[in-house]
Formats: sequence, C-alpha cells, structure tokens
Amino acid sequence: MEATLEVRGLCKHYADGDRLVEVLNHVSLDLAGGRSLAVTGPSGSGKSTLLNILAGILAADAGMVVLRTGEATVDLATLNDAERTRLRRRHIGYVYQFFNLVPTLTVWENTVLPARLNKRLDLDARAGELLDQFALSARRDTFPEVLSGGEQQRVAVARALVLQPPLLLADEPTGNLDATNSKHVADLLFSAAREQNVALVIATHSEEIAARADQRLHLNVDTPPLT
Ligand SMILES: Nc1ncnc2c1ncn2[C@@H]1O[C@H](COP(=O)(O)OP(=O)(O)OP(=O)(O)O)[C@@H](O)[C@H]1O
Ligand SMILES: [Mg+2]
Repeated sequence: MEATLEVRGLCKHYADGDRLVEVLNHVSLDLAGGRSLAVTGPSGSGKSTLLNILAGILAADAGMVVLRTGEATVDLATLNDAERTRLRRRHIGYVYQFFNLVPTLTVWENTVLPARLNKRLDLDARAGELLDQFALSARRDTFPEVLSGGEQQRVAVARALVLQPPLLLADEPTGNLDATNSKHVADLLFSAAREQNVALVIATHSEEIAARADQRLHLNVDTPPLT
C-alpha cells in the first residue's frame, strides 16, 4: 500500500515562560510513496516537532496534514485521539529521536509490538530477519536498559520497519550509530522507500544522509520574538 503526504502551512509555537517561541512558520511539503525527504536544520529548529505533528502526536496551531493511503484520505486534524492512534498504529512507522522503547519488554517483544498490535502474527519471521540484519539476535531476550544507545536505536529502527508501514518517520535514526551501522540503517530506510513504495521522512544532522534523500526541507531557528 502506498501513502502520499500533503502538508500545508503548518505553524507551531511553544510558550516558554512569557516568551513565545515560533518553531514552525508555514511549513508545506508534498511527499509521494517511494520518495524520501530529509528534514535538516540546527538543533532547536523544529525537526522533531514537525515529525510529531506528521505522526499526529502533536497538534499544529495552524495548517493541515493530509495522509492518503490506498484506503482513505484523512486530514489528521479531523480525527479524534483514538482515531489518530489507530492511524499511527496501522500506517506509520516512527523511529523516535529518543527511541521510546518499552522498558518492561525485551528486544524481541519491542520489535514485534507493532505486529502484535495489528494482530499480524505472520510478521515474526520478518522481525527475526531485521534483528539479524542489525546484529541484535543475541540480544533478543535482553531489556532495553542494558543496551547501548546504538543498540537501542537499532531496535527502534527494526520496530518501525516490521509492519512495512506506508509512511516512515525517522528522527535522527543514525544519531547514535558508528559509521558502519549508520550506513546500514540508512541503506535499509532508503531501500524501504524505493522498493516498498514507502514515503520516508528522515530528520538528520548528517549531510551524507540528507544528500541521499530525493527532497529536502531545511528549517531555520528564528530569533524568538518577545511577547
Ligand atoms: N513541549 C515543549 N515546550 C516548550 N518548548 C518546546 C517543547 N518542545 C520543543 N520545544 C522547543 O521547540 C524548539 C524546537 O524543538 P525540536 O525538538 O522540534 O527541535 P529539533 O530540530 O528536533 O532539535 P534537535 O536537532 O536538537 O533534535 C526548541 O527550541 C525546543 O526547546
Ligand atoms: Mg529533534
């Protein structure tokens, strides 16, 4: 199944004490299945904020996010919380910047969680292969807290890939990895986009990874206005 993402005029600000911090200022983008978009920009420029809005985890102040899948066209703002959660569960793979692994579940249980939530017992073999590819098979029964940052990051990537979701959001997915693992993770994400028609949004500080994406969105840090 293929997904298309259409984003128009997204704005988001945070209140920081009595200051108003404008983070996203009319951000628009279009991304088709099979294509990749690199989101770049300095720390604090709003990359994670944007991805959280695309995932329906955070509401924008203004603007529109429309996700078209084979099944339906949905404007995220029209969904209630339960509907947004269901959409995310079924159609979106998200590699969180800080991994968000479930501490009480093992590496294996974390990896197959999206499959379990969708009652897809047929994906165990795929989950096993992903763990193999990420050299994590020996860590299957380990809990996240004893893993290195890079190992946790690879589990987070494997978990996002298990379901083969049509929209993949990856927030600095190689930020904790050595060069070899970084290339491997990037190879898997970009080949998912090309070969499985996934729409891939990847936030990154790596010029090398950004250069591999089909499209690029650069965010700037504005000097926050005083209110
Ligand atoms: N919940 C919040 N409340 C107040 N300010 C916030 C909140 N979340 C983020 N911010 C601010 O919004 C700005 C953008 O944050 P965001 O995490 O989106 O940046 P980023 O581009 O992902 O940065 P990094 O490269 O460091 O991950 C930052 O100035 C941050 O301090
Ligand atoms: Mg971030």
